[in-house]
Amino acid sequence: MKHILSAKQFETQELRKIFDSADQMRKARQGKKTRSDLAARHSGCVVATLFYEPSTRTRLSFEAAAQALGGGVISTENAGEFSSAVKGETIEDTVRTVARYAEVVIIRHKEKGAIEKAAAAADGEVAIINAGDGDGEHPTQALIDLYTIRREKGRTENLKVVIGGDLVKGRTARSLSMMLSKYKENHITFVSLPELSISDDIKHHLKETGTTYTETDDMHQALHDADVVYWTRLQLERHNGNGNMKLEKNFVIDQKALQTMKDDAIILHPLPRNNEIEQSVDSDPRAKYFDQVENGLYIRMALIDELLGAR
Ligand code: CP
Repeated sequence: MKHILSAKQFETQELRKIFDSADQMRKARQGKKTRSDLAARHSGCVVATLFYEPSTRTRLSFEAAAQALGGGVISTENAGEFSSAVKGETIEDTVRTVARYAEVVIIRHKEKGAIEKAAAAADGEVAIINAGDGDGEHPTQALIDLYTIRREKGRTENLKVVIGGDLVKGRTARSLSMMLSKYKENHITFVSLPELSISDDIKHHLKETGTTYTETDDMHQALHDADVVYWTRLQLERHNGNGNMKLEKNFVIDQKALQTMKDDAIILHPLPRNNEIEQSVDSDPRAKYFDQVENGLYIRMALIDELLGAR
């Protein structure tokens, strides 16, 4: 069975199919009859969530998505403490075990590459979804981000996208950059302090795919012609021993930053946020991050539907 491990793995026609399916899920959830049809769609199937790192949106939206499609959910929300990992079980053995109970296993792990190891151990028995692996990737978040861009801007190409914040440890910035590189004429401006800048492997990938990019620490200069502003928090939990780091004031989206932006720009954030987008920004019509959260449900329904349908 197919796994979802990296933003790199998707072709553009597959992305279109997933986004169209998410649109259908949204519509079906709005009607009483269609909603109950959805709830019978994968009755008897089981989805497992194994989260070795904290989460609000990813775990709960995957579980809500599975339930909306009629599936059952088994879960360990703090697998590092409450699964047999604490007794020394490897992730490979855990996945071989959970594969006996569930058809899809959704995993978040603190180590980059851990979910690929789990997928190799699953040996085609079960579909594995990477729900975030350390400072590696978060491919389903990138699907949500690109789907939100498609809904709000009406296109996924020919966009000026500013990606800012902690780009060295932020896995969503990495996966979104890879997604954007699949489409023509997208230009990415990375905004960060030099010590938080995007890694060389992503820059190399962008060069290989012919995607233009620039890097700057001048947020206001970058914002003025952006179609999409994608902002991220400082990933304090991944900056070992430097818990006192703070994002500087000139990296905060506030009322002054809003004045710099175009009227038809959109502001996205994978959430959770700290102080890098002021709460006063939430009421601005360009702030789309809570719509992005809702889109996560429909994208994850589409993904589970696709994986269970392929059985
Ligand atoms: N965007 C995201 O991954 O949020 P959670 O950490 O709450 O799942």
